[in-house]
Amino acid sequence: MITDQELVQAAIDATQYCYAPYSNFKVGAALLTVAGEVITGVNIENAAYSPTNCAERTAVFKAVSEGKRDYVKIAVVSKGAVSPCGVCRQVMTEFAPQIEVIMADLEGNIRHTLRLDQLLVDSFGPENL
Ligand code: THU
Repeated sequence: MITDQELVQAAIDATQYCYAPYSNFKVGAALLTVAGEVITGVNIENAAYSPTNCAERTAVFKAVSEGKRDYVKIAVVSKGAVSPCGVCRQVMTEFAPQIEVIMADLEGNIRHTLRLDQLLVDSFGPENL
């Protein structure tokens, strides 16, 4: 099984593909599936700004589009080790409400790890429909 530090490194490696010419704020993500596969994502910005896609959503959408919907953890890396935005939390809770979210900086220092249901309490999900 891949270590948290290796997952963080995969997210750091992915940042070379960030497309963030407007914010210059690079974010990388590495999603670990239950099958042990690592799927990376980066933030992809847009001249019209609002179509921008965060790194976490890129990773999840890549995975779902390949038929992979069960996840164990996700590493998210950025300057300052930020935590996922609300939209990404909502997207992740659809498939993995208890996913572990590892937040690290671009040097690989893990700031903290929290379960998604700690980051998004009392969430709205498929069970509510
Ligand atoms: N961003 C992410 O990719 N993930 C986050 O969790 C926070 C924000 C991106 C979106 C945008 O490209 C840049 O960071 C600045 O907001």
